[in-house]
Amino acid sequence: MANDTHKIWGGRFGAGPAGLMTEINASIRFDKRLWRHDLAASRAHATMLRDQGIIGAEDAAAILGGLDRIAAEYERDGVPERIEFEDIHMTVEHRLGELIGPAAGRLHTARSRNDQVATDFKLWVRDACDEAVATITQLQGVLVARAEEHADAVMPGFTHLQVAQPVTLGHHLLAYYEMLKRDISRFYGVQHRSDESPLGSAALAGTGFPIDREKTARSLGFPDGPTANSLDSVSDRDFALDYLSAAAQCSLHLSRLAEELIVWASAPFGFVKLSDDYSTGSSIMPQKRNPDAAELVRGHSGRIVGCLTALMVTMKGLPLAYSKDMQDDKEPVFEARDLLILSLRAITGMMETVTFVPERMRTVAAQGYSTATDLADWLVREAGVPFREAHHITGRAVKAGEEHDCGLADLSLDQLRAIDERIDERVFDVLSVEASVRSRTSYGGTAPVRVREQIAKAKAELGL
Ligand code: ARG
Repeated sequence: MANDTHKIWGGRFGAGPAGLMTEINASIRFDKRLWRHDLAASRAHATMLRDQGIIGAEDAAAILGGLDRIAAEYERDGVPERIEFEDIHMTVEHRLGELIGPAAGRLHTARSRNDQVATDFKLWVRDACDEAVATITQLQGVLVARAEEHADAVMPGFTHLQVAQPVTLGHHLLAYYEMLKRDISRFYGVQHRSDESPLGSAALAGTGFPIDREKTARSLGFPDGPTANSLDSVSDRDFALDYLSAAAQCSLHLSRLAEELIVWASAPFGFVKLSDDYSTGSSIMPQKRNPDAAELVRGHSGRIVGCLTALMVTMKGLPLAYSKDMQDDKEPVFEARDLLILSLRAITGMMETVTFVPERMRTVAAQGYSTATDLADWLVREAGVPFREAHHITGRAVKAGEEHDCGLADLSLDQLRAIDERIDERVFDVLSVEASVRSRTSYGGTAPVRVREQIAKAKAELGL
């Protein structure tokens, strides 16, 4: 099967590839997403070739003009998906040939698809990091706003999903702000480790042409200049793995938030009511209101982790330098990006529109002897009891509560003094859930004053 691609690399071949060969070889279906970065890298390369006197000014002008026309075409009509042109690089080169004739053949001087794809993909990942940061920042803004609304609202804090100590809803929401902050720093870290340009590494060994890699690196916005080893440059996909790893961790955070929304929206909890915008009904049970969006965010995180695993396994056994297995690097990254951005937007919408039910949260916060630690701390502070002993005394108070089927604050002073006579009436000041959260003023603690400080700090960080 003779075809146009065959003309690009087919000099030494007799017959053309089998249909199935063409099919398995082609990546245009997915790598067309790289078109903007591919054109940018080609522009930088052609300009450098001209400035170095490697190609003539007229040919360079024709090439640059042709690349602009291709950009306009793709912008308008999308990238044509013809598998006989294999990938985005050959699709562009073929079109350039149609537009400007034989001068198009000079663009690939001192370049290989191996350094080309590494460059395009790295540029794409660098942009994807900016996108992730911007999208995460939106969610942080919503979390901070909701935290401010509910800075004083008391809810049960859990460990082991058992009521542990009262906390404030604002504090709980800000926990996610912190996680997302680390996610942002991870995406910046990905970018930072991708600050060098592979362009000019050619197939694997560099080139004998007098290219200027500093120049192409600079014009493509790689702040640290060119990569130092051509073999590493064409076989490195750390940047893609780094992105996937950052995306996977971020998705775990979203999944945990989604999980909480799902639990909180269930009838036994009743802590939140999800808005109609982010709930669905059941086809059989008319009363149902399902948190599908949250469940899908939770589900998508599994797929994103799968994308990371997929590329890690693809890369693990590859010898230097380029192997075609590496063409499989792009789909998991694109899939993870799509799932992550969609999940971030969906959960941002959910958090914006969810109705919290503070009365219900407060009721549950008061259950399960959640202020037992406050009683123990009071004994330490006011009666000089060693903490271990205070813990034991409090345990007996909880037992008394269970026997009388009431909370600690509902026990009479006599009942408490029967357990330990060092207890006096001032203890009732610390047994309410409000007093409990108010007292947790250590740095990073749940007290509303501390939460408001953190909100102010977060707003400053977000420029709000
Ligand atoms: N489409 C290829 C990829 O994504 C481009 C590099 C091809 N290089 C090669 N030597 N066949 O990996």
